[in-house]
Amino acid sequence: MARDHGFHPLRVTRVVDETPDTRTFALDARFPYRAGQFLTFKVCGTLRSYSMSSSPDTDAEVCVTVKRVPDGLVSGWLHDWLKPGDVLEASGPSGSFCLREDADKRPLVAYAGGSGITPVFSVVKSALATTRREVRLLSAHQNGGSAIFRGALDALAARHPGRLSLCHHLDDRDGLVTAEEIGALATERADYYVCGPEPFMALVEDTLAAHRVTPERILIERFTPTAMVHEAAGPPEPLAATVTVDLRGERRTVPQRPGETLLQSARRAGFTPPFSCESGDCATCMARLTDGEAKMRVNNALDVDEVSEGYVLTCQAEPTTPDVTVVYED
Ligand SMILES: Cc1cc2nc3c(=O)[nH]c(=O)nc-3n(C[C@H](O)[C@H](O)[C@H](O)COP(=O)(O)OP(=O)(O)OC[C@H]3O[C@@H](n4cnc5c(N)ncnc54)[C@H](O)[C@@H]3O)c2cc1C
Ligand code: FES
Repeated sequence: MARDHGFHPLRVTRVVDETPDTRTFALDARFPYRAGQFLTFKVCGTLRSYSMSSSPDTDAEVCVTVKRVPDGLVSGWLHDWLKPGDVLEASGPSGSFCLREDADKRPLVAYAGGSGITPVFSVVKSALATTRREVRLLSAHQNGGSAIFRGALDALAARHPGRLSLCHHLDDRDGLVTAEEIGALATERADYYVCGPEPFMALVEDTLAAHRVTPERILIERFTPTAMVHEAAGPPEPLAATVTVDLRGERRTVPQRPGETLLQSARRAGFTPPFSCESGDCATCMARLTDGEAKMRVNNALDVDEVSEGYVLTCQAEPTTPDVTVVYED
């Protein structure tokens, strides 16, 4: 099996204050990765994913950049406690918010809001360094003080005159981002990269659709889970079928419930299975079906070989046969 599930120790070598609530952590890491990918960290038993702001094509260090979420468990811990010399447990790299192999001549248009600039910065650096593509970037923040990588982006634009068009949007100066502003960057045959708060991404998606950009041209990275909420009038009726979950050798069986994912069934069985994004993007929840079948609502993380070997994203997989067995492997 190709994917490395394991968590590995990574030492923090440097901590950089980007803005009052955003820090970059440089890591002593030697693994190969692609621009736009993320790592998943285990902090106090909790899993959270953070995109790499570094580019494998331009940066010697591997860096993640973390914005503190108010009352956020992991982002708060990383800001309050993590210092050079400390060791983090991390798995990955994962994710497909990356440069496409066949896109050397297509323009690249990116829309980033808040901490969404992190993977976009990585992708833009690689695109400029390894291709001849024209790059257009809208980087939106609440104000000048919260504009992550503003100076670094200006320096990048200066190093690539005529190739990187940069639009710094500040809400307190310019008002909220508008469809006109988004549409103004759209151009023929481009690939589009979108990462930011949900309302920002929804506006970008709607605007691009109005400009007849087809969905396969748009790559989206979601930081917040788009967990589907299945509201039912009362508890759903159990089916005459079962889900058997095997987590690190311990096996439990629960009745299937309509509309329930394998991850939800595993939790109902009393397990604490691994997960992070709950959006089908990170593969942290990946497990193997050894019996029965299941259909994934979204799969932005597993490749064709993994799926054919029986692996599923349990946060997205619903059983389609009466009895299924799912095994979480270490
Ligand atoms: C693939 C992926 C890549 C990511 N990359 C980055 C990155 O590069 N930099 C970065 O800073 N974050 C990134 N995130 C988000 C990160 O994983 C955490 O969700 C975020 O740091 C909040 O976690 P927490 O434990 O601090 O907050 P929690 O304790 O989980 O949440 C505290 C409160 O904040 C809300 N909340 C949770 N997440 C967010 C959020 N992202 N924005 C606003 N409110 C939220 C919750 O609903 C809750 O009310 C990424 C997420 C994914 C899935
Ligand atoms: S938890 Fe990220 S893909 Fe399932």
